[in-house]
Amino acid sequence: MRQVVSKVAEAADAETLRQRIEALAPWFHNIDIDGISTAPDHFLGDYPAGKFARFASVLPSDLSGKTVLDIGCNAGFYSFEMKRRGASHVLGIDSDERYLAQARLATEAFGFDGVEFGKLSVYDVATLGQKFDLVIFMGVFYHLRHPLLALDLIREHVAGDMLLFQTMQQGSSDVMEVPADHPFFMPGTAEPPAYFDDPAYPKMHFIEREFAHDWTNWWAPNAACSQAMLRAAGFTVERTPEPDVYLCRTAPVPYAQHGPAAAYPTKGAPR
Ligand SMILES: C[S@@+](CC[C@H](N)C(=O)[O-])C[C@H]1O[C@@H](n2cnc3c(N)ncnc32)[C@H](O)[C@@H]1O
Repeated sequence: MRQVVSKVAEAADAETLRQRIEALAPWFHNIDIDGISTAPDHFLGDYPAGKFARFASVLPSDLSGKTVLDIGCNAGFYSFEMKRRGASHVLGIDSDERYLAQARLATEAFGFDGVEFGKLSVYDVATLGQKFDLVIFMGVFYHLRHPLLALDLIREHVAGDMLLFQTMQQGSSDVMEVPADHPFFMPGTAEPPAYFDDPAYPKMHFIEREFAHDWTNWWAPNAACSQAMLRAAGFTVERTPEPDVYLCRTAPVPYAQHGPAAAYPTKGAPR
């Protein structure tokens, strides 16, 4: 009899969970919460698990004692994966309350400690007043009107060591060597440099209206541009496990001797 009662209680719990998941739909992250898939019909398949499987091995398998900031965390897929690797504290931030509610529901169902989610724009990371061992900045860059500012702010205020970065890219995947100082005219000629038209030159494609029916897609760098912008913000690319995924480390910020590259959204924030 007791077994029958507990089975009934379990079924009621599962139904409540299913209703809570449904109430927060649509989900962009497909997460398995107690056997319920949050986005089983995702247009990219099992997303982001399928994508993560292709680059998971470049991240440390043991993050014990490490802190992680997941910027644009959505429903928290990457935050949860980092917690599973032992991170001592994971903070996910996003500008969208519904996604944060999804992340909190999943956290509650998984029973994770040390994983928090908060509403914060990438432009306001200085207010965190803390650096993190690993910053995850996946799938947000091209949604921003001011992507280089975001990278500068991340480098200045929250990047302590590693940055996991992903962006939509368009154009050539070739990367050309670019002179450190561009001449007005090619040596011995009256011609301006022709290499600016080379598809492998760092290029940021501006999207004035929509990309794939999404007006929040503002930019699409080519591969050379992603890498150049990361370097310009003070990151060195260590691994490119996928054409659009970059594992970076903090490096000296070019021209830092002339002052900070990023604006300071809060005066007196700890540095
Ligand atoms: C394409 S999703 C990527 C989600 C997740 N990082 C991934 O790679 O699967 C973009 C996410 O960035 C968030 N976002 C957009 N603009 C943001 C901003 N200014 N600050 C923080 N998050 C932002 C969106 O709400 C959304 O959750």
